[in-house]
Amino acid sequence: MAHHKTRLAVFCSGNGSNFRSIYQAIAEKPLNAEIVLCLSNRSACGAMEFAQENGIATLHITEKQFASFDEFAAAMIHALREHRIENILLAGYMRKVPEAVVRAFPDKILNIHPALLPKFGGEGMYGIHVHAAVLQAGEKESGATVHFVNEEYDKGRILLQHRVPVLPDDTSESLAERVLECEHRLYAEALEKLLQEEQQ
Ligand code: GRF
Repeated sequence: MAHHKTRLAVFCSGNGSNFRSIYQAIAEKPLNAEIVLCLSNRSACGAMEFAQENGIATLHITEKQFASFDEFAAAMIHALREHRIENILLAGYMRKVPEAVVRAFPDKILNIHPALLPKFGGEGMYGIHVHAAVLQAGEKESGATVHFVNEEYDKGRILLQHRVPVLPDDTSESLAERVLECEHRLYAEALEKLLQEEQQ
């Protein structure tokens, strides 16, 4: 008997290419899940547009809308509970998830990082800076990591990693492009692994 579909929220801030590849994987594999909410700190970004075009509920929520950070965190939790969210996928989300939210969803939040954690993670390691650091360090390979989000952020349990080569003439941009394509394949596989772990 098929399990009920796991209810997912994606947190995005940008184009949403990871969101779109997850959405496609759910339809094509198929995966026993559905994305029921797209949450973003930006009201008009590619991810939010994609959600609206595909009938997925959106929530634009930022700290600035609230009198305190705690109220912001409480409102985020309330919205997630209202949508009966079971797992949260951070997909190009450029804000820290409030600790209260991480505590409310223990081992339920995944993040994708564009490098092979534990290396090239932590403060300041996001976007193009990651790839510049990998090249600077003379690494022969890079890749992407899907990990669980805990209070220490990039230090949660690693669920899955994919590797890509670093080529001699790579720039930060060319490496970023190769890693982003790798992220799209990786997140789909990582979600499949998560659902297998959770739906057993
Ligand atoms: C990219 O830098 C990606 O490496 C990281 O989030 C950024 C934007 O991703 N995961 P997306 O296109 O918005 O999914």
